[in-house]
Amino acid sequence: MTDRPPLIQFKDVSFGYDHLFTLQNIDFSIFPGDFVGVIGPNGSGKTTVLKLMLGMLQPNEGTVEIFGTQQSEGYLRMGYVPQRLNLDPKFPISVMELVLSGRLSQLPWYGRYQKEDKQAALDALETVKLTEFKNQPFGTLSTGQAQRALIARALAGKPELLILDEPTANVDPNSSADIHRILKNLAGEMTVVMVTHDLRTVIHDTQKVLCVQDGVTELSPDQVCEHFAYGLYHTPLIQGAEH
Ligand SMILES: Nc1ncnc2c1ncn2[C@@H]1O[C@H](COP(=O)(O)OP(=O)(O)OP(=O)(O)O)[C@@H](O)[C@H]1O
Ligand SMILES: [Mg+2]
Repeated sequence: MTDRPPLIQFKDVSFGYDHLFTLQNIDFSIFPGDFVGVIGPNGSGKTTVLKLMLGMLQPNEGTVEIFGTQQSEGYLRMGYVPQRLNLDPKFPISVMELVLSGRLSQLPWYGRYQKEDKQAALDALETVKLTEFKNQPFGTLSTGQAQRALIARALAGKPELLILDEPTANVDPNSSADIHRILKNLAGEMTVVMVTHDLRTVIHDTQKVLCVQDGVTELSPDQVCEHFAYGLYHTPLIQGAEH
């Protein structure tokens, strides 16, 4: 795998928000087809690392190469599911309209959705199993369904790289398992980078783990053992884990 050029490469990156919070000397690469889990305690900088990856933040030192260049157009080839969506639940938008909005950056200058945009949105809804909800107001979806709709919005842009920030936070266990199943299937088709606190998924489904704590440490999933998780989170690795 490593003979292929990386999709994302951090080279000696440092970043800080006005010296209040800093990440130092970050070096890692993500290759095409990788399923990467990003873990770390609350406030350790996981979202910040994703934003550097997406080109939404610029490093103070070092370089972030996206698709082999330092140009910012890489975002067109990425789908992003943010940690928080500042959308008023009463805002009158249907699930289909929300998913179609994932095509906005690909629209021609005259800005009308074309047949292929609608097809891409329908395909994405099918992938996340929300087809039957397409005409429903987005605000009426459950938390798990809303997350799936946001994943569909990111998929509608047909990304090569899908980046998700805690897609199963506040989601019930069944819906969370559904989302992980969807992502595991997608991981065969595209590169997936996911921030999560679900270490069971990290250990079983991903091929690479980035642990964000002071800097970024690259681990293999089998290095994320219970002992390590104790140190990181100060809680048992998996609640109700069978021994
Ligand atoms: N725009 C900002 N300006 C200043 N400080 C910020 C900004 N965004 C985040 N921070 C701070 O930077 C640190 C890292 O934030 P970040 O959101 O990347 O962490 P995180 O690991 O994603 O946290 P969480 O687990 O809560 O999602 C935190 O201390 C946060 O308060
Ligand atoms: Mg975060």
